[in-house]
Amino acid sequence: MDLTVNGSAVSLTSDGETPLLTALRDELGLVGTRFGCGQGLCGACFVDVDGTVLPSCQTPVWQVEGRAVTTVEGLSRDGVPHPVQQAILDRQAAQCGFCVSGIVVRAAALLRDEPDADADRVAEALERNLCRCGAQRRIIEAVLAAREPV
Ligand code: FES
Ligand code: FES
Repeated sequence: MDLTVNGSAVSLTSDGETPLLTALRDELGLVGTRFGCGQGLCGACFVDVDGTVLPSCQTPVWQVEGRAVTTVEGLSRDGVPHPVQQAILDRQAAQCGFCVSGIVVRAAALLRDEPDADADRVAEALERNLCRCGAQRRIIEAVLAAREPV
């Protein structure tokens, strides 16, 4: 199964029905993408597939053959964090951090598509990303701060 992950061509040997989340973590060692609910409900496992954010726990690898997958690891450039990552760090917006990978992937896609997204739009976009620590408010503020040009 050939695809692109974080800009590099990879070949997966996992069975086609294997969840992409499992292949990313267990076969490729990309453990930044988290297993939360396993049911497409929490957003911890979100990855970007050809510009669309999907729950990787509910995406069998056969569906991503030939496609471009970006995980949280693929958002930094030459060791420089993505603006959303940097803003979350700067503001210490997260608490335990478990939800953050999926939030960063979702927020990065939003700001790519809608660079001027306002607070309501950011909150709406992150609605499917659950945070048990209650850090959503700080995380939304960090995403808004990340809209500044870099
Ligand atoms: S682990 Fe995939 S949505 Fe919760
Ligand atoms: S910071 Fe802990 S779940 Fe969000």
